[in-house]
Amino acid sequence: MSGHGTPIPMTSRASGALTGTANVPGDKSVSHRSLILGALAVGQTHVTGLLEGQDVLDTAKAMAAFGADVKRLGDGEWTINGVGVGGFAEPEDVIDCGNAGTGVRLIMGAMATSPINATFTGDASLRSRPMGRITEPLALFGAQAVGRAKGLLPLTMVGAQNPMPVRYTSPHPSAQIKSAVLLAGLNVAGDTVLIEKEKTRDHSERMLRGFGADVTTVETDDGFEITLKGQPELKAQTIAVPRDPSSAAFPVCAALIVEGSDILVPNIGLNPTRAGLFTTLVEMGADITFENKREEGGEPVADLRVRASKLTGVEVPPERAPSMIDEYPILSAVAAFASGKTVMRGVKELRVKECDRIDAMARGLEANGVKIEEGDDFLIVHGQDGSVRGGGTCATHLDHRIAMSFLCMGLATQEPVSVDDGGAIMTSFPIFQELMSDLGAQITRNNR
Ligand code: S3P
Repeated sequence: MSGHGTPIPMTSRASGALTGTANVPGDKSVSHRSLILGALAVGQTHVTGLLEGQDVLDTAKAMAAFGADVKRLGDGEWTINGVGVGGFAEPEDVIDCGNAGTGVRLIMGAMATSPINATFTGDASLRSRPMGRITEPLALFGAQAVGRAKGLLPLTMVGAQNPMPVRYTSPHPSAQIKSAVLLAGLNVAGDTVLIEKEKTRDHSERMLRGFGADVTTVETDDGFEITLKGQPELKAQTIAVPRDPSSAAFPVCAALIVEGSDILVPNIGLNPTRAGLFTTLVEMGADITFENKREEGGEPVADLRVRASKLTGVEVPPERAPSMIDEYPILSAVAAFASGKTVMRGVKELRVKECDRIDAMARGLEANGVKIEEGDDFLIVHGQDGSVRGGGTCATHLDHRIAMSFLCMGLATQEPVSVDDGGAIMTSFPIFQELMSDLGAQITRNNR
């Protein structure tokens, strides 16, 4: 497994037209939240379509360590018997969240206002990511965190004995910060208020409401003010997890660049706080149709029909960044095939993801003959008008999206593209290689 095992070098090669249906796995963000809110509810929550990637499995294990009864019934089908708000038990051992920033940050929030202590760690990638952005707002509730210098994991959270409600303006456009604060607010009497300047993914707000919490969002001059009334009784739910638009991005983008491709990607969650990539691709000239639009479990959903397209570079509006923050790596790979340049500004959050994604994409694109320009908070990809050399080996730094982006790119380059380690793909898209091969993609594990 990523960060804990032997690297898995992989290579992709120019492939014939991609065709068929790509059934991508469940949404990672919604899957984490289903388990955490299920664990905080009273009664049995039943989840179908749960993503069984390592990130989510680590959250399931963590919820069991905090006292919930978590059971896998079958493929993607799980039940969680919750302990109720304020009912978390103290874990007997260290909580290892593996590669999952969302997992560790949301769980820290969920336990920070209970009178228990917990120690968190993760793989080398997670241990290098900033936790101060979470522990600072949680300190306002009365929780204390002691980690390594600079607040890195491993870190022990000492939950607040007498938590106070908090009003907090998030300094970063981050759904993880917002969600950690709202989850902490659950076990506090009174209103917890989180203000975000730019709207980030709102799965926590939607799901908290679904479980019966009183959560309101008001747009003000300062941005979006989200208020949660503390100490609700969360009632167990039945949740059908929509398929992940961030995973759909890979077959969608691969089909756009591989000549003659025509694929269907059914049942994709199109929550507007997540769908920025598709808007951008359509602006670039992508032939994507959104068929059978409907609503499922409170989230908008459609089937995506995607045909290979001639793309033109665009300037992505910086305010769109939160709705496609995880998709810049694959957009950068696709932009290499466009005519003209694709300009991505206002993306400095990419520097604190599973790796520094601006740097990782820049280096990998250069290694494959693509000209780029980069700065603290921007990346510009100079499109090669359909003809990209390839031939490079890209360092993935334990980052699943970097690995999948370069493997998709190699399906349309002149020479094969390799990644040094595809192991991290297991964190979010365990069936990636199989699903892509079924469409006709040539992606292989290298023989050692
Ligand atoms: C996530 C939020 C985003 C995203 C991550 C999942 C979530 O992180 O990059 O993959 O589920 O809340 P930030 O909130 O740090 O932007």
